[in-house]
Amino acid sequence: MTTRRQFAASLPGLVAGPLALGACSTEPAADSYFTTAARTWQVGATTDLVGEPLARELVRSATLAPSSHNTQCWTFALDPATDAIRVSLEPTPARSSNLYTAIPDRQCTRGDYDGKPLSALSLSLLQRAGSSGTVRLLLLTDRPAMERTLDYVIQGNTAQLADPAFVAELKSWVRFNGAEAVRTHDGLYSATAGSPNIPSWIGRRAFRWLLTPKGENDRYARQVRSSAGIAVFVGLTADKANWVEVGRCYERFALQATALGIRNAFLNQPVEVAGLRLPFAETVGFAGERPDLVVRFGRGAAMPRSLRRGVEAVVA
Ligand SMILES: Cc1cc2nc3c(=O)[nH]c(=O)nc-3n(C[C@H](O)[C@H](O)[C@H](O)COP(=O)(O)O)c2cc1C
Repeated sequence: MTTRRQFAASLPGLVAGPLALGACSTEPAADSYFTTAARTWQVGATTDLVGEPLARELVRSATLAPSSHNTQCWTFALDPATDAIRVSLEPTPARSSNLYTAIPDRQCTRGDYDGKPLSALSLSLLQRAGSSGTVRLLLLTDRPAMERTLDYVIQGNTAQLADPAFVAELKSWVRFNGAEAVRTHDGLYSATAGSPNIPSWIGRRAFRWLLTPKGENDRYARQVRSSAGIAVFVGLTADKANWVEVGRCYERFALQATALGIRNAFLNQPVEVAGLRLPFAETVGFAGERPDLVVRFGRGAAMPRSLRRGVEAVVA
């Protein structure tokens, strides 16, 4: 059975070390990365598609969703298959929605934000988009509550970076330059977190040296303090159906944010390190409950895009 750890493993941030080796990279990264990224995130046809072309476009849109470490842990079957989440579709009149049109622009934005608060209207739209009958969303916007959350992020990050298995898994998903990202079409391209392109062999050898708890914790402190708020998602129960529902609520939240020009990025350490989850829940007012996702939000500049495997690679 899939554990929640497998379902929603985390990323403690990417290599953002002091090594400015961009100019040393001899790998032909830039052009093909930019072309591939533009193709990946192009606006798809929205009308005049029926049958299999329509199904494939729906799959392509689905693959633009976030996944932990950008593992893209999914395959699709256009005909009903066993042991799968089934999505039954029925004909309906075409209708434009601002959440749908935000799909090609959504990203997890791992840069600093502008530190300014959001309007009450924006917060209420985010609140509505990110909650449902079985998922509660808490938007923390007061600085003391954000600092308390940061404290758990730092404790969680420190614990994760002291765990060799966690670090090894993270390293296996880091793509140190555009050429490597294009080769796999998955993983965490370091430029998406603001790091320079470096040759893969240097990145792999220097990884532990670049990824220090202090460096990462300082970065998280800066990121939280430049955010307008922190969103905490809590599903009713800990089972697959609820995890899917939490994911749907998060995706709607992220698309609504995108439609409003608001960025977001995960800060999941407080819910991924088992010993922190319950005290964290209590700290933010969810005593006895089990928060599923922690996300910062605010306004800021876009970062380079993550890549995706093509539809051919994910349709069984
Ligand atoms: C369940 C889940 C957990 C995630 N955890 C983290 C995290 O802890 N830190 C982080 O920076 N990104 C996290 N991400 C974001 C992914 O790394 C990101 O979606 C992926 O790299 C693709 O990038 P994109 O969303 O910008 O397309 C998480 C995503 C999901 C779905």
